[in-house]
Amino acid sequence: MAAQKLLLLPGDGIGPEVMGEVRRVLAAIEAKGLLSFEIDEDLVGGCAYDAHGKAISDEAVAKAHAADAVLLGAVGGPKWDGVPYEHRPEAGLLRLRKDLELFANLRPAICYPALADSSALKRELVDGLDIVIVRELTGGVYFGEPKEITDLPNGQKRAVDTQVYETYEIERIAKVAFELARVRGNRVTSAEKRNVMKSGLLWNQVVTATHKSGYEDVKLDHMLADALGMQLVRAPKQFDVIVTDNLFGDILSDVASMLTGSLGMLPSASLGAEDASGRRKALYEPVHGSAPDIAGQGVANPLAMIASLAMALKYSLGKPEIADTLDRAIAGVLADGLRTGDIWTEGSTRVGTAEMGQAVVAKFEQLLAA
Ligand code: IPM
Ligand code: MG
Repeated sequence: MAAQKLLLLPGDGIGPEVMGEVRRVLAAIEAKGLLSFEIDEDLVGGCAYDAHGKAISDEAVAKAHAADAVLLGAVGGPKWDGVPYEHRPEAGLLRLRKDLELFANLRPAICYPALADSSALKRELVDGLDIVIVRELTGGVYFGEPKEITDLPNGQKRAVDTQVYETYEIERIAKVAFELARVRGNRVTSAEKRNVMKSGLLWNQVVTATHKSGYEDVKLDHMLADALGMQLVRAPKQFDVIVTDNLFGDILSDVASMLTGSLGMLPSASLGAEDASGRRKALYEPVHGSAPDIAGQGVANPLAMIASLAMALKYSLGKPEIADTLDRAIAGVLADGLRTGDIWTEGSTRVGTAEMGQAVVAKFEQLLAA
């Protein structure tokens, strides 16, 4: 069995703690003889800046190119508030996304029945929720040029970010959404602001044209992004796959996370285009950030990081059945009443990061043996 090349980038804040639990799961997968791994580790974010004055080194980017899958913890924290903008911790993550051309960001929001009471919404609105936000990840206002602050003759300043999309960028992300919908609920909702933005108008037209070009079996709706935000908290179960641009996707996925009980529950996969051999470059990361307020205390929720590994098993490592078992192990420990602080409710058992990871591994091994 050829070893799968993994690059682990734990990053800052709680990143190293939750990545530790991924290592635990990887060890269990290897011990069971299901896969073998060649694991490398490197720095990204503030820790990379501290080590070599850049949010990611060229060597680390080269390793990411060569890996079968990259797993990233989190970047950033108040410690680096003062570093120059181009060296801020987030720049490392953005460079990885851009250099590896990871244009398709899948952010599933699943509400495990056991967690429905941890959601900010009423149980009946979220119980059984299963949606995916497909966020465009390498275009739009995140990367558009010009992006600058200039001095005006009157002594004031002028800041510009550029929201820009070309046809091919919208077309390829729309295809990802339609193809994903086909193996799920067969419905796509596309969100933009065509009433205010030219890029929204083009987004709407290209998604519609792509739909007509061979995806008409999938049901397509369009919704203005603000209205979609409202509907996400009013009646989230109406959605199946939501496709949207980089910035709206960033915002809407944070909203979606709270439907599931906690930001600590959302995994994500960032995928590139398939090459001739059918492989894609890929990076897997939890949607949550570095949570500096609880870093180093051993209380962070590792489930989004572990669920990100499950996505890697499914999309990069060719093991959807192991991914499924791992997802069921996560659901199982939640059903057993184990909770980290972020999802704790009266009557459940509060555990730390390592205990949660151990419990997932124990449940995973149990399910494999069954
Ligand atoms: C996310 C994060 C990032 C983003 C930050 C850390 C740059 O919020 O992945 O959602 O804005 O894309
Ligand atoms: Mg975000």
